[in-house]
Amino acid sequence: MASNAESETPRRRITVPAIRDSKVRNGDDPLVMVTAYDAPMARIAEEAEVDLILVGDSLGMVVLGHSNTLEVTVDDMVHHIKAVARTRPKALVVADMPWMSFHVSPQDTLINAARLIRAGGKCLKIEGGTKRIPMMEAVIAAEMPVIAHLGLTPQSFNAMGGFKIQAREAEAANELVREAKAVEAAGCFAVLLEGVPDVVGQMVTDALSIPTIGIGAGPACDGQVLVYHDIIGLENRFKPKFVRRFGTAYEDQLESVQQYAQAVRHRTFPAEPETYVAREELTEALGLYGSKTQDS
Ligand code: KIV
Repeated sequence: MASNAESETPRRRITVPAIRDSKVRNGDDPLVMVTAYDAPMARIAEEAEVDLILVGDSLGMVVLGHSNTLEVTVDDMVHHIKAVARTRPKALVVADMPWMSFHVSPQDTLINAARLIRAGGKCLKIEGGTKRIPMMEAVIAAEMPVIAHLGLTPQSFNAMGGFKIQAREAEAANELVREAKAVEAAGCFAVLLEGVPDVVGQMVTDALSIPTIGIGAGPACDGQVLVYHDIIGLENRFKPKFVRRFGTAYEDQLESVQQYAQAVRHRTFPAEPETYVAREELTEALGLYGSKTQDS
């Protein structure tokens, strides 16, 4: 999609059709997607003019303190999607469907999907390929556009034996291309491709007319996505190979809180500028003398 990040014209709302038509091979700029889970993050992502904001179930790990995404519920997602949507970003808000919200039946999936859209998502992300196509088709038929998430799908953590790079063998790579073509044929408007070798990212991107958005899938994808906390360096415990930290938020925030604690203990905070100093009449009426200023 052509970016207007450096132009004077006001930014236009980003729509599903605009994303679906975005392919680097057709001369478009790579798509920029970032996760966000609350209003301040959404405001920053919007001001940075990203194309898509993903309210990802990664919130279970980076915000809620779980060790994987399987604990995240539809209620959790609704709560965080609402916080992001209240900022009314022009970026496309993508609502991630959590584990077990789209595995039981198409009917059950429709009810869960509608809750995420009513919370403010403009479209959905669903992990999985062929196995999930009946659910994808059901929500697409109900006017809820879908991004399919293929490759390393974190909700398959137990089945995959951990967060493991996928499609390392030729057969698995060819199978992934078939899966990607199948979700495109089912009506998905983009594919999020996670944790695959660069050539596989290239193969899938070449095979599709819808865009691929990669995370650990190499530079050939039509866009990139990273988790907000990884970008700003707030998540400092574990750094997958595909992450680049563009900031040092953990250290910066630690320093701020340490300085605050020190100022309280050394009684340099609060000082006069941060204090509602009583007017003279009040100190006099209370029989307290020696107050320095009169502002309240
Ligand atoms: O939930 C999420 O944030 C994701 C990204 C890792 C792409 O699926």
